Amino acid sequence: MRPKVFATRRIPSPGTEMIAEVCDVTVYEGTQALDRKELLASVRGIDGLVCIPGDRIDAEVLDAAPSLKVISTCSVGYEHIDIAEATKRGVYIGYTPEVLTDATADLAFALLLTAGRRVAEGDRCVRAGKWQGRFDLGFMLGAPVWEATLGIIGFGRIGRAVATRAGGFRMKVLYNDAERRPEAEERGLNAEYRDLDGLLAASDFVSIHVPYLKETHHLIGMRELRLMKPTAILVNTSRGPVVDEAALAAALKEGRPAAAGLDVYEREPLDPASPLLGLENVTLSPHIGSATGPTRSKMGETAARNLLAALGGGEPVYWVNPDAAKLRRGT
Ligand code: DGY
Repeated sequence: MRPKVFATRRIPSPGTEMIAEVCDVTVYEGTQALDRKELLASVRGIDGLVCIPGDRIDAEVLDAAPSLKVISTCSVGYEHIDIAEATKRGVYIGYTPEVLTDATADLAFALLLTAGRRVAEGDRCVRAGKWQGRFDLGFMLGAPVWEATLGIIGFGRIGRAVATRAGGFRMKVLYNDAERRPEAEERGLNAEYRDLDGLLAASDFVSIHVPYLKETHHLIGMRELRLMKPTAILVNTSRGPVVDEAALAAALKEGRPAAAGLDVYEREPLDPASPLLGLENVTLSPHIGSATGPTRSKMGETAARNLLAALGGGEPVYWVNPDAAKLRRGT
């Protein structure tokens, strides 16, 4: 019998097609998050679930799908899935790291340059007809990027890919992570380890690349923002709740830190009442870290491979909870 799969989104080609070759797949074709009731009804009797960030996959969903074997998220982040609940039911969780590392690092760098050199603000100024005087020596002065100090919080795949890009701008790279990287790797990336406070105090740019966990909730709050140089620029392409957004908006309003570039928010889409929207010194992008055609295609393919491997009796290529295998085997 062909396995039954429900997908909360049509994942990019060739992902959905690969799944449809082997499984009976139902795809939710909407672009907004699936209504909770509809999600609970749709998972009944399925063997595999494909999802994306924003879909809350918790005990209630797992209880509604007792034959579920695998959840495959088309994302590197998996904070939307209750790992403990899935693991204790022997449900594998697949995810899509590596394939989106470079696209996300590129976007972090784009925000760093845009916020640092006030590109989006300049664009708004030109469009609004507010550009006066042909060439003004004091106009729209930004932060130098060349040879500046970049602090990277979270030195996993994406953080290290940002460090590689920083080399092209001869930046001094500081990093913080739960674990120090081997010395040879630090040398190769020209990166020095610092504790978080030391990194914040010494950096001209700070870029965040940690996963969202209980421990990283509001990792950057008012205390941390106050530790940054007044001229510094904060970039966040990880997850919104890693930064206390209200504190950041208040700090940016005072111009300290000088600017920020954000791709992720505590609530997505961004609340139309967010104070960030009224600030000139923040560049806002709509969670597009991995949004390039080839990257999304690889994410779709990886999500499909993870799902199909698990449904075929094997292990996902990339998975979060190998402990689930013990339960599945009854060991
Ligand atoms: C990811 O893959 O986690 C991206 O942030 C998209 O949500």
